[in-house]
Amino acid sequence: MPFARELAAIGRAWSTLADADALWAICIRPEARHGGWDVAAFYATGAAEIEAVLSQAGRLGLRTSGQHALDFGCGAGRLTRPLALHFALVQGVDIAPGMLELAQRDDPAAGRCRYVLNTRPDLAVFQAGEFDLVYSSIVLQHMPPELARAYLAEFARVLRPGGSLIFQLPTHPRWTVRGLLYRCLPPTALGVIQRRLLGYAAPMRMHGMAERRVRGMLAAHGVEVVAAAPVAYHPDWRELRYFCRRR
Ligand SMILES: C[S@@+](CC[C@H](N)C(=O)[O-])C[C@H]1O[C@@H](n2cnc3c(N)ncnc32)[C@H](O)[C@@H]1O
Repeated sequence: MPFARELAAIGRAWSTLADADALWAICIRPEARHGGWDVAAFYATGAAEIEAVLSQAGRLGLRTSGQHALDFGCGAGRLTRPLALHFALVQGVDIAPGMLELAQRDDPAAGRCRYVLNTRPDLAVFQAGEFDLVYSSIVLQHMPPELARAYLAEFARVLRPGGSLIFQLPTHPRWTVRGLLYRCLPPTALGVIQRRLLGYAAPMRMHGMAERRVRGMLAAHGVEVVAAAPVAYHPDWRELRYFCRRR
């Protein structure tokens, strides 16, 4: 299977991060380390994101409700749950079993959210044209760009014509001290710094992709980028949220 070694490493890292301090690994805030996230406040960040982003998507003329949505890299269900207010069924997909366990724990949207473990470099578990919306935040940045491109092609495949694709992806590191480290050091060295100096339970790789490359590959898969808006999850990276429509 292509990307087998990369996926095994990503799965191991995120399982370790999930078991150690899942909510912090998903939304890194210094004050929320070591189980410090207030659970309600954590999920409230997801509700706020989905309401703001779907409003923006609606203003751009994109489809923002319907039968079936996919939340790729769903983690603890922070975004899956609020998506269920807009779609009859939301499918959360993740590579880490510990994340999926959390997502299903005390899920107020349980009847409308389903979760599936996927360790493949594709979304063969879903049929072509199944989804009205494919959504992904702070996920594609954590894998090698070639693998992110493979998933982007799959997002296009599983979307129905006229469906919406909304995802976040950094373009490149900023000229900050940490941004310079991201520019200059290989991922293995950054992983050592994260583990030894910053105390991460496992490395959290970060990658960007030039906007022009993203646009080019989406166009080749029949996806039109309606807008690419700046977004700020990570102070050391320039990031975009892409609002797209399947032709
Ligand atoms: C920073 S968390 C974001 C979770 C969620 N999107 C959110 O914003 O709350 C990244 C998530 O992506 C998942 N992930 C990483 N690589 C993945 C892959 N190849 N397939 C599915 N999930 C993946 C991780 O397990 C983790 O739960």
